[in-house]
Amino acid sequence: MRAIILKNDVLEARVCDFGATLLNLYVKDRQGNVVDVVLGYDELQRYCSEDGYLGATVGRVCNRIKNGTFDLNHKMYQLATNNGPNHLHGGIKGFSYQSFDIVEQTKSRVVLQYVSKHLEEGYPGNLTLKVIYELDDNCLNMKYEAVSDKDTLINITNHSYYNLSHEDTIDNHELMIRSDVLIEANKDGLATGKEVVLDGKPYDFRQAKIIKGILECQDEHIVLGNGLDHPFVFNHCKNQVCLFSPKSGIEMVVSTTLPQAQIYSANYLDGRMGKQGKKYNKHAGICIETQNMPDAIHLEDTPTTILKKGERYCESTQLIFKVR
Ligand code: BGC
Repeated sequence: MRAIILKNDVLEARVCDFGATLLNLYVKDRQGNVVDVVLGYDELQRYCSEDGYLGATVGRVCNRIKNGTFDLNHKMYQLATNNGPNHLHGGIKGFSYQSFDIVEQTKSRVVLQYVSKHLEEGYPGNLTLKVIYELDDNCLNMKYEAVSDKDTLINITNHSYYNLSHEDTIDNHELMIRSDVLIEANKDGLATGKEVVLDGKPYDFRQAKIIKGILECQDEHIVLGNGLDHPFVFNHCKNQVCLFSPKSGIEMVVSTTLPQAQIYSANYLDGRMGKQGKKYNKHAGICIETQNMPDAIHLEDTPTTILKKGERYCESTQLIFKVR
């Protein structure tokens, strides 16, 4: 396992070849102190054995696939059901638990590559995925490029848990999401496809608001999800999410080519030991998992997660930092 350091005048990132994981992302706060804005572990080995996908690249298909089964070109495929009755985050040994090759590296950019074999975790097609982390001024760009030799499914995300101030929870963070609707999730966290209009809901984040209180509200979707754990559908095609810590002054804007993000308030962090002996409890961070529609193969007429043989999958998500 190797950690690679990317550095420019503004940002520093550490990336691991295991799971193409974002280990650290160092940003300066209002006082000029350096804050590592992602949760994780000090020992690389922990990334192999722990769940929760801290910082990991998730695929071949992130989020849940109903009953771990799908029909593609009139053929049924059976995937692992590793989350209740459903398939989650690429299966038992999804991309988060695979070793990537470092195929290119400069001071501010690294290209990691993984070749996923035909029927690995049940998915058809030999798929070559490139994950590119690149620093550009105040921005970390995460790019995903893939090609398969058979029709397959793909939906890649990064599963970093952000905390912009090292507070115990993200309760005091302010969140803005350019979204008018979220997709309902059932008791197993599976997207049902039903749209929930955000207007009037406590988790309508079209105007930036402090998170405190919202994750404990008695709204049926929040209660069922044990907090926020829902796909928010964007109504803009850039700068869709903004997370801000009034304490540190750090603002992070998320800008993506993808149409949605699973907003997950770390509801299942269980007090495990994280970096520098810090305990990660529930709501210790927030994930902004940019992606296509979860379970698109069952929910969409023209599923956005199908990658045709020989076609190129190409998506990117940028994290843009400022202090205020
Ligand atoms: C899911 C959660 C799940 C978590 C695993 C998130 O993307 O939406 O339901 O518990 O990943 O750490």
